Amino acid sequence: MAHSVFYPVLFLLLIPLSTHVRSSEEGFISIEIFDKGIDFAKDLLINSGIHSLTPLEVPQIEKAVKIPLIGTVHITLSNIILYRVEVNSSAVKSGDTGIALVVSGARAYLSMDWSYHYGTWLIPEISDKGVASVEVESMEVGLTVGLKNQQGTLELSLLECGCHVKDISIKLDGGVSWLYKGVVAAFEKKIRSAVEDGISQKIEDAILLLDSKLRSLPKEIAVHKIAALNVTFVNDLVFSNSSIGLEINGLFTARDEVVGFSNYAINSEASLSCGGPSKMGGISIHENVLNSLSSVYSDADRMHWIIDKIPDLSLLNTAKWRLFLPQLYRQYPNDDMDLNVSITSPPVITVAQNNIDGEIYSDVTIDVLDAGNTIPVACISLEITFSGYPEISRNSLAGRVELNDFTMSLKWSTIGDFHLHLLEPVIGTVLRTVLLPYVNVLLWKGLPLPNVKGYTLHNAQFSYVDSRIIVCTDVAPFGRGPRGYLNPLEAYY
Ligand SMILES: *[C@@H]1O[C@H](CO)[C@@H](O)[C@H](O)[C@H]1NC(C)=O
Ligand SMILES: *[C@@H]1O[C@H](CO)[C@@H](O)[C@H](O)[C@H]1NC(C)=O
Ligand SMILES: *[C@@H]1O[C@H](CO)[C@@H](O)[C@H](O)[C@H]1NC(C)=O
Ligand SMILES: *[C@@H]1O[C@H](CO)[C@@H](O)[C@H](O)[C@H]1NC(C)=O
Repeated sequence: MAHSVFYPVLFLLLIPLSTHVRSSEEGFISIEIFDKGIDFAKDLLINSGIHSLTPLEVPQIEKAVKIPLIGTVHITLSNIILYRVEVNSSAVKSGDTGIALVVSGARAYLSMDWSYHYGTWLIPEISDKGVASVEVESMEVGLTVGLKNQQGTLELSLLECGCHVKDISIKLDGGVSWLYKGVVAAFEKKIRSAVEDGISQKIEDAILLLDSKLRSLPKEIAVHKIAALNVTFVNDLVFSNSSIGLEINGLFTARDEVVGFSNYAINSEASLSCGGPSKMGGISIHENVLNSLSSVYSDADRMHWIIDKIPDLSLLNTAKWRLFLPQLYRQYPNDDMDLNVSITSPPVITVAQNNIDGEIYSDVTIDVLDAGNTIPVACISLEITFSGYPEISRNSLAGRVELNDFTMSLKWSTIGDFHLHLLEPVIGTVLRTVLLPYVNVLLWKGLPLPNVKGYTLHNAQFSYVDSRIIVCTDVAPFGRGPRGYLNPLEAYY
């Protein structure tokens, strides 16, 4: 299984056998992992790999050895445990068909028990036992894995794997010198190949486990009780010598309900540019992702509000509105009022050059509360434009919106015509002090970001290209977890 030349071979495996045809299904969210991110993932993987590798129990080895002057001695090495691995240097390379990982100059430490017995019909049986330690002074481990999108699910497969032990040193506690020579001569090769096979087997198991974890990833992630993000992988993964790219469907649907967003036409290829290799990865989010979320919220009837107080203007009352709606006051003197705001169509969101623009169409019905009855007296159509500014806060993609402008038109009225511009300050105050803060609280909660083993986005930068929000980012521990003895992130701070 082991070849001292295996790692150039691993890299050769990455050369494509056929040029792949890009399928055309559109991913509205695409993710690209750059060199620095691949390196980071490699360090994480090696760390957790070492963790799962030890302790490794190697099958016991027995052999009858001919010792000069003594005869045939039955030696057994048992309870062989590889209990520690140290990795000095490692490299990862992505190529057209997968990823190759090479660990070189690793050290490993084993403990074991030795025992022997010999005897003939002439002499009574003689036996002894003790402990031994083995240090693997230099070991290379290499593997190539293929990563594929198999009908929406990532599939990981081990294409090649090898472990090569170069030098080992054996120390016996106790025993006699002929035993030491016998063990080294007869067992060194066996220990090597037992370690090589044990580690290769463990890697195969680990890849199988990782593959089953990937396969069991959900295809949908629930967000805020009513929406579900479709995280089905679409298209082939794109491997280059410096990045790995993947795409997911990325649209929101109502939970437990299939809503077709197939009418979303999209013409731009996901193009991710993070301006050089300084970041670990990039995420591009098409504006349709935000529009699908806004559709879900509108369909779920989540977009209406009854407003009966306005900060600064205190309670709504016809007496307070006497100046601009005298006819209302005449008809309903000193009655309380409310404003019934409903969003009439899903907010339309567009990714602009420097931010996100949005348009909301809503109806504001003015109700008078008279003797326990709610009496609608007028309805105003309101077209609101706003700008949104996304940010990464805690472990979510959050953001805030600012009001740009609004225009009003009277839809109907039971109290005759009136000058809408007189209502502008009131409506403006409602938007600024009630609706936008409400929306901002929702946005502040944000969309949860994947939190993989306690790591999340860090130092994210936003840019806006071709109807897409581009997030260029690093990854860092989420919160202040305990630091392991080997912190793979040290280099990235
Ligand atoms: C491991 O790293 C140390 C320095 O940290 C270096 O001196 C040593 O030669 C390395 N060992 C191998 C086997 O590469
Ligand atoms: C990666 O590939 C590009 C061309 O596709 C080449 O110019 C570049 O040198 C390669 N980089 C490495 C590190 O192999
Ligand atoms: C999720 O995305 C996949 C791939 O685009 C698509 O086939 C599937 O119908 C979507 N699921 C829902 C619930 O929309
Ligand atoms: C608010 O107005 C909408 C129509 O715009 C209406 O369907 C709804 O019943 C009203 N809600 C209340 C509580 O008056």
